[in-house]
Amino acid sequence: MLRQGRLTSAQRRALDIHWPAYGIDYRSGLIDPARVFGNSAPVTLEIGFGNGDSLLQQAQGAPQRNYLGIEVHRPGVGQLLHRAAEAGIRNLRVINHDAVEVLRDMIPRDSLDCVQLFFPDPWHKKRHHKRRIVQPEFARSILGLLRPGGSFHMATDWMDYAEHMLEVMEHCQGFDNAAGPGRFATAQLLRPETRFENRGRRLGHQVRDLVFVRRA
Ligand SMILES: C[S@@+](CC[C@H](N)C(=O)[O-])C[C@H]1O[C@@H](n2cnc3c(N)ncnc32)[C@H](O)[C@@H]1O
Repeated sequence: MLRQGRLTSAQRRALDIHWPAYGIDYRSGLIDPARVFGNSAPVTLEIGFGNGDSLLQQAQGAPQRNYLGIEVHRPGVGQLLHRAAEAGIRNLRVINHDAVEVLRDMIPRDSLDCVQLFFPDPWHKKRHHKRRIVQPEFARSILGLLRPGGSFHMATDWMDYAEHMLEVMEHCQGFDNAAGPGRFATAQLLRPETRFENRGRRLGHQVRDLVFVRRA
């Protein structure tokens, strides 16, 4: 499902002008990251970057790495492109499509250094838990796309989702919990604060990070 939402005129303009430089159209066929970015630096992929605050900050702070963002919400994509262009960012590309399909159809195996999933939709009602993106099949698909030694970093401000993530990930053969079995990551590991995190904290929610590494 593509979430169009209402675009501001600045977002629409940013999409019109900067999509050719930053955007990758969804298609059924693998991309070649070295061709897309023009170099073979390690790639971090972020799923559901929202308005892209943390992704932009990371891309700015690590020009020696490449960043690929996937987001269904078009206004968020417009906002990110606007600010990325303003900042002259070159190591960032964006796909405006459902991440599950992008992972399945476009990302080569063993190609990612890191996958980030920060504050995914919590679907906090019990009858909606099956809609949560972190499920065993999803974890297996991430495993196959990471290079050996690559990491999958998740964060959430919903405790029962954090516990669900932990359970799914610990049952996924081929991943090791960087914090040790049954544990959440203690530090934020240089992750910038995201917009949804800030909102969650203001509501008094505790934030949990999880980092799982693909066994070499
Ligand atoms: C709760 S928001 C968090 C946004 C951002 N990571 C943050 O922390 O501010 C979840 C985001 O995931 C996006 N999203 C949900 N399902 C998605 C999917 N299947 N593919 C890509 N993006 C998705 C939503 O549009 C939304 O922007």
